[in-house]
Amino acid sequence: MCGIVGYVGERDCTEVLLNALSKLEYRGYDSAGIAVFEEGKISVQKAKGELKNLRNKLEEDHKPEGHCGIGHTRWATHGEPSDINSHPHGSKRVSIVHNGIIENYKDIKKFLIGKGYSFVSETDTETVAKLLDYYYNGDPVDAIIKTLSDIRGAYALGIIFKDFPNKIFAVRKDSPLIIGVGDEENFIASDVPAILQYTRKYYLLEENEIATIMEDRVEFCDIHKQEIIKEVNISDLDMDAAEKGGYEHFMLKEIHEQPTAVKTTIAPRIVEGMPNLSECGITEETLKNYRKVFIVACGTAMHAGMVGKYVIERLARCEVTVDIASEFRYRNPIVTPQDLVIVVSQSGETADTKAALHLAHEKGAKVLAIVNVKGSSIAREADMVIYTHAGPEISVASTKAFSVQMAVMYLLAFEMAYAKGEISKERCMELTKKLSDIPELIEKTMECADKCQYVASKLITASSLLYIGRGLDYTLSMEGSLKLKEISYIHSESYAAGELKHGTISLVTDEMPVISVATQEDLLEKMVSNIEEVKSRGAYTITVCKENMEFSEGIMDEIIEVPAVEDVLMPMVTVVPLQLIAYYTTVLKGLNVDKPRNLAKSVTVE
Ligand code: AGP
Repeated sequence: MCGIVGYVGERDCTEVLLNALSKLEYRGYDSAGIAVFEEGKISVQKAKGELKNLRNKLEEDHKPEGHCGIGHTRWATHGEPSDINSHPHGSKRVSIVHNGIIENYKDIKKFLIGKGYSFVSETDTETVAKLLDYYYNGDPVDAIIKTLSDIRGAYALGIIFKDFPNKIFAVRKDSPLIIGVGDEENFIASDVPAILQYTRKYYLLEENEIATIMEDRVEFCDIHKQEIIKEVNISDLDMDAAEKGGYEHFMLKEIHEQPTAVKTTIAPRIVEGMPNLSECGITEETLKNYRKVFIVACGTAMHAGMVGKYVIERLARCEVTVDIASEFRYRNPIVTPQDLVIVVSQSGETADTKAALHLAHEKGAKVLAIVNVKGSSIAREADMVIYTHAGPEISVASTKAFSVQMAVMYLLAFEMAYAKGEISKERCMELTKKLSDIPELIEKTMECADKCQYVASKLITASSLLYIGRGLDYTLSMEGSLKLKEISYIHSESYAAGELKHGTISLVTDEMPVISVATQEDLLEKMVSNIEEVKSRGAYTITVCKENMEFSEGIMDEIIEVPAVEDVLMPMVTVVPLQLIAYYTTVLKGLNVDKPRNLAKSVTVE
């Protein structure tokens, strides 16, 4: 996902922009650039590749000296990663940085070419810059308003006009952008970590509000140029949280943060031993009346939804459908105003998940968002929000966000089950107590790290693996498979263990390790049979199971035991070895754990 920064104040603008961009690198990018006012002109420098390439170019070529400017890290959507396609884009009079996608840029480009404009890049962003130039007649806000009326799509824009060397203009729709408030200095940024080194104060920019950022103040207006007065927010994010805290990688840090993340997420939602989500606008009355629940998300968040399905259906006896967001939005789902649609998203900016939210609203359903990033688009557009308190998740591979998403699913399931009379208050309190004890069990599960590292050493030469499980363990096998694939680049596939014999077992040889998740006691006998099936075909078998389980000798090459808790809660501890296996395999392969190739932390485009 692209990163936007901007600065106006007394500091060395170029340094501020580069520092701020470095705090956004975790979002994933393939090029970077800055535009800084220098002696009345806009000086632009940009470079393909990592931020250090831009720094080198500034040293070798020219480092703009000024006090007002904008910067950008680009994750390519239109046009390959290259110097010329990097942002900022502009004309002689305007320079902009953009995060998002302009859906009708081709039509606009054609119109502008007809007006005599030429283009140097393949980007949609350059079209916006030239359209701003086209409409500019001395009033930047007018030009912005006219431009907004023509463009369609998602955008967060940082804009500077040559005639206004001490001002930055900003506007957003469907992409994140905040305004940082300093002391005689102000900022724009895609995310709070970019400005934390300078200030904790920031404004949230609502859709199509236009901000004019100056050194000593920030002005807001709407598209009718009506002034808007806004409240300043104070970020409680701490810098350490955005740093590695002594761990080699953000991913390992975030795996180890899971006990705290789960505790801080569930504790405020348990009152007198019972789940209580009223602060999120959810009551027992509302929960018990929904006809059906849809859970819609992408990737790991969708896997949390799968766990939610099993738990809500098992305890609350309410029908749950889980959809991949990019499928949900195009299958015309049968959603009614009597249904609850739950969207799950760590970033709160995932385009497909946001589109699913919009579709749910079009069909009259209430939308509950389970989101980790405060003030994110999905959080702001949902009817109800349960914020997870995992802190910033920097590593592209989602770990602690998954755990806290599952924890929220459990709270929802317990409260719904009690509200519907499916479980007694005592049972609800018992389950809630067991959930409260989970953080310590996750901590205890970390003891399997050495075994996971050993297992990883056996996997690094594999070209493909199977992850198998049944019931809740099947959903965890999905998450384990995704974790391994996305960071170690080893192909793996999650498969319902009972389905193997219907075809896929033909793949199993002594060159295909099989990781089995076998924690559900009512399914254990079947799982052991499945493990025997793959073992007899030569597979190297690794089994994640409850501690002290008895298995006959020889069918499991490696056993990774996790602390025993009631079956329905096992996913909360089972996920840890699956995360650690993926992590150590990647480290042993010498790959970039936190920033795997081709991936971004948040996929804000389709
Ligand atoms: C998970 O490790 C991946 N990084 C990815 O699947 C992620 O879960 C997915 O893109 C959804 O992101 P979100 O939770 O921010 O919506």
